[in-house]
Amino acid sequence: LGDPTATTLPAVANGSPGSKVSSKPSRMVQPSDFYFGKELGSGSWSTVMEASHVNTGKLYAVKILSKAQLIKLKKVKYATIEKDALVKLSGKHPGVVRMHAAFQDETSLYFVLDLATHGDLADLVKKHGSLSLRCARWYTAQIVDAILWVHSKGIVHRDMKPENVLLDDELRVKLADFGSAYMSTDGDLSPRASSFVGSAAYVSPELLDRSSKTTSSSSDIWAVGCTLYFMVAGTPAFAAINDYQSFRKIETLDYSFPDGFYDLAKNFVQKLVVLDPSDRLGVEPKSSPSQLRGHPLFTEPVDSVSPEEPAGMPI
Ligand code: ADE
Repeated sequence: LGDPTATTLPAVANGSPGSKVSSKPSRMVQPSDFYFGKELGSGSWSTVMEASHVNTGKLYAVKILSKAQLIKLKKVKYATIEKDALVKLSGKHPGVVRMHAAFQDETSLYFVLDLATHGDLADLVKKHGSLSLRCARWYTAQIVDAILWVHSKGIVHRDMKPENVLLDDELRVKLADFGSAYMSTDGDLSPRASSFVGSAAYVSPELLDRSSKTTSSSSDIWAVGCTLYFMVAGTPAFAAINDYQSFRKIETLDYSFPDGFYDLAKNFVQKLVVLDPSDRLGVEPKSSPSQLRGHPLFTEPVDSVSPEEPAGMPI
């Protein structure tokens, strides 16, 4: 399984989580350094637990990956990729979840992550039904900023979806779950062969095309458009009774906007949710990241887009 303790990240063991690496020799972090609390989420090979650091009382989310399940389900690569991506990205951008330490025992791998106290964007939208334009653009602006930065580091997330957009105590976005990521060794994120990874309703058409099956940063851009659609409509653009039906809809761009869908958001979705990956807003060489950042969704004054919305916390 490799050695996930061999990370250069600051250890949480010396009584100062998140602090710079101390010059004192530090012992390895271990499960007994934490009091484990409630379960925050779980998947086939991992569970995320809230945990408090025994020495400091600081709260973290600890992702625990079962070695037996990883081997049985042939997902060891996912764990390695997630750790490598987080080592590369961690602590360098506020929009990416930070990994404070990684360690292992006989049964499991442990990733000590920022605790996102407000859960994820999917739960937030489900709780409220849908989001106002002001809120949707608050989250979209941060998602765009974070994903463009991830791309600039030579990494494609490949599983962008509202469930992987976590929200911290100030409702700021933290992109998470880099287990499906593609990491280029030379920074080149141009299209290349890959197999389907990701979630049905957010997968891009090029990843469904048997003859092309390419990975590029443009697949994340498609998913960002689908994520804004979900925030405003309250349901995924390509929702269907099963994955197969979602795929058929994606391949034919078979989606529509419900009545009342904000025009600025509609225009943004229509520029990102485009069949040809090279025609999406922000994708070079036909467009550029600064064009994506400069979309009117972000530049129009708040009052002129939604005068009726009260100021306050963006929920
Ligand atoms: N679920 C998955 N990862 C999480 C995190 N870092 N914080 C809170 N909940 C999570």
